Amino acid sequence: MPLIVESPAKINLHLRIGPRQADGFHPLLSWMCTVALADTLAFDLGPTGAGIELACDRADLPADSTNLVIRAAAALDPERSARIRLTKRIPMGAGLGGGSSNAATTLVALNDLWGLDKPLDALAAIGATLGSDVPFFLHAPSAACAGRGQIVRAIAPPAVARWAVLILPDLSMPTPAVYRRFDEMGLGEVAIDPARVPPDAFAGWSSLPSDALLEHLINALEAPAFSLCPELGRLRRDAEALLERPVRMSGSGSSLFSLFDTSDGAQRAARTVLDGLSQRSMAVELAPGKGSIRV
Ligand code: C5P
Repeated sequence: MPLIVESPAKINLHLRIGPRQADGFHPLLSWMCTVALADTLAFDLGPTGAGIELACDRADLPADSTNLVIRAAAALDPERSARIRLTKRIPMGAGLGGGSSNAATTLVALNDLWGLDKPLDALAAIGATLGSDVPFFLHAPSAACAGRGQIVRAIAPPAVARWAVLILPDLSMPTPAVYRRFDEMGLGEVAIDPARVPPDAFAGWSSLPSDALLEHLINALEAPAFSLCPELGRLRRDAEALLERPVRMSGSGSSLFSLFDTSDGAQRAARTVLDGLSQRSMAVELAPGKGSIRV
């Protein structure tokens, strides 16, 4: 009986970034929220002593020890065995946190399957060594994040602006290069506190309708991402003109999004983007309920 778990994507509703620190990372303040676009992971124990076996349906994602699923399993307990199947739907290099989500899902599922009983904080500490967004996914669906991402405070997801249109251009953005361009451009807000989420961060934002909420949203990585990839900057500009509302980038790109109060509004926007810009696009709910099932 495999344990089958959905591993959702996230968007950064808001992302502000401080100057590079001595450890090479940048302190950030972000509001992250899951969306109803997910990979699926299936886990079973497999033969004793066989180690971790991973099968993935995407040939361009190596199912070897570089894969975050394998790295998460090994970081949890390198002595145990599991057989894992990964079905990818979240585009890679899109700023949607697919790899980090897969790692977080693996930590929770194998903690359960192996009967390790590690508390969430211990899993988050392991997760932080794997990727900056992993701790968020352990506190999903909606959280304010600080530090490199490892300081996480769960906050209410948008209650009114519950729908997003995702624009998924066929572009893969390299996160380290976007941060390097961020440094070259001399960006980096000194006011970002590397040690905590400010107590009033995003206070009252979750009750705003999409028009008002969109006005608050920024992503400090847009300028360097568009500098590296002007085509993405042009697409954002064209999408804003077509949809007549702000369009933001998620993470270090390449995905773009806008927010809506209704499913209909988001679905119409997705069709408009597909027809008008010939870009892959979909309507997704923000912070959907958990779809963990055992079959
Ligand atoms: O942790 P993650 O694998 O997402 O980070 C990828 C790269 O992005 C890091 O190696 C680093 O260059 C950059 N990064 C950063 N500051 C952060 C998060 C990521 O400089 N807060």
